[in-house]
Amino acid sequence: MKTIIRNTIVLLALLGAFFQVNAEQNFIYQDSVLKGDNGKTAKIFVGVPVTIKEEMGKNVKVSIKGVMFGDEVYSSKTKELLVAKVEKGFEVNQRDGNEVELVGTLAKELTSNDPLDVWGEHEEFYFEMCTQCHAGPEVNHHSMMEWEAIFGTMKGFAKLDEEEASYLLRYLKANSSDGFVKTEH
Ligand code: HEC
Repeated sequence: MKTIIRNTIVLLALLGAFFQVNAEQNFIYQDSVLKGDNGKTAKIFVGVPVTIKEEMGKNVKVSIKGVMFGDEVYSSKTKELLVAKVEKGFEVNQRDGNEVELVGTLAKELTSNDPLDVWGEHEEFYFEMCTQCHAGPEVNHHSMMEWEAIFGTMKGFAKLDEEEASYLLRYLKANSSDGFVKTEH
C-alpha cells in the first residue's frame, strides 16, 4: 500500500516538475549511500536536503552541503543534526572554512521532494508516543536546541528506549524551526 501511495506521489511530483521547470528542494528518503566520482562512498542520513545536479536514468547526481568535523558532516557548526559520514578518501569540495559540498550519485528513488513522504513513518510514531498526555506540539514551533532540552524530559515520560529516542529526536530536529524542512509558521 505504501508503495502505491509513494508511486502516486512520485508520479504527481514528476507531473508537477514537468509543468514547473524549476526543480524544488529534494530530500534523502531514507539512510542511503552516496557514491563519489572516485568510487568512495559516504553514508547520507534520512531527511538531508539535496540539490539534483543531473538526471542519469535511474540515478541522480546530487550536491549536499554541510559543515565537516573529521569524517562527519553536520547541518551546522553546532553539530546538531548529522548529514553524512564519509569513507576515507571520499573527496569533498571545500567551500568556506570547514563548510563543504559533497557531490555523488545515488538511485533517484532514494530522493523525494515531499517532506511528508520522507517523514511519514516518523510522524506516525511521534503521534503514537507523544499524544498520550497532551496534544502533539507543532514540531516547527521549537528550534533544535529547544527540542533537545524538552526531549530530555519527554523521552522519559514516553518511556522510549535509546533507539526510539534517537529516531524521534532526529525527526523533531529535522522538522524544527531551524531544521532541514523550511515551512511557513
Ligand atoms: C506521560 C505524559 C507525557 C508524555 C507521554 C509526553 N509528555 Fe510532553 N508534557 C507532559 C507534561 C506533564 C508537560 C508539562 C510539564 C512540563 O513542561 O514538564 C509536557 C510538556 C510538553 C511540551 C511543552 C514544554 C515547554 O517547555 O513548552 C512539549 C513540547 C512536549 N511536552 C513534547 C512531548 C513530546 C515530543 C513527547 C513524546 C516524546 C511527549 N511530550 C510525551 C507530559 C507528557
